[in-house]
Amino acid sequence: SVPMITLNDGTKIPQLGLGVWKMPEEETPGLIMSALNNGYRHIDTAAAYGNEAGVGRGILESGVPRDEIFITTKLWNDRQGYDETLRAFDESMGKLGLETLDLYLIHWPMPNRGHYVDTWKAFVKLQQEGRIRAIGVSNFLPEHLERLIDETGITPALNQVELHPRFQQSAQRAAHAKLGIATECWSPLGQGEALSNPVLTEIASRHGKSVAQVILRWQVQLGCITIPKSSNHDRMRENITIFDFELSDAEMARIKDLDAADGRIGSDPATADF
Ligand code: A2P
Repeated sequence: SVPMITLNDGTKIPQLGLGVWKMPEEETPGLIMSALNNGYRHIDTAAAYGNEAGVGRGILESGVPRDEIFITTKLWNDRQGYDETLRAFDESMGKLGLETLDLYLIHWPMPNRGHYVDTWKAFVKLQQEGRIRAIGVSNFLPEHLERLIDETGITPALNQVELHPRFQQSAQRAAHAKLGIATECWSPLGQGEALSNPVLTEIASRHGKSVAQVILRWQVQLGCITIPKSSNHDRMRENITIFDFELSDAEMARIKDLDAADGRIGSDPATADF
């Protein structure tokens, strides 16, 4: 079964979950049920993905008790600001059909708009009211994390950032470790790009595993939380079957060498504007 990571507020999160970015709403309930049948107990969605209602329906129809499932959603950029955040949260919860949320994230810092501190104050209020168990952020650079902590005294439980073998985020992970913030990986498989890498292929064949399984196992051994997306039943099962083997220190070192200066796939949080 999937190990749990304890966040800085005491909340426990399964170290591997299902990402649902780009999962069409109409397919989502069936895929969520399939994931739950395959042992997934952690789902990562976002208001911007347009499938929160599908996630909620899948969970309900699965019959798996609500308190066994860890659910994350995220606040989209155009809803930042104190009052707007409270409204957007209620909308997401209405779509998900949930009373309480396990983890709410600010999707992007949008530093040029200057609203993320007020947004964070609304997150803190919602957590104090018991509507959210853990609060965190996504795509925050160390300077944004430090500003949140300085101005509110409340440290995010987790930061979800782009992280895969060609974009390993060493400095970002070191900053998280210093601040007591967990690292969660988005696009953990590099959106499929890393799957043909020869070093990873060799390591995978040595363990009788797939490249995807090696990448996810590497993230787990780094201490990260990982949320691979798949819309395919077999690949979903493959991605959760990574707790029955271990990468050696030498293999971890070889993967470390795959980090690349131009490895980023997504937007740069400092300049992202959408
Ligand atoms: P699919 O949904 O058809 O399985 P990421 O999570 O890094 O964004 O990667 C998601 C992409 O990787 C999707 O295109 C997904 O396709 C594909 N994918 C997910 N799991 C695997 C796997 N085990 N092997 C190969 N491709 C995978």
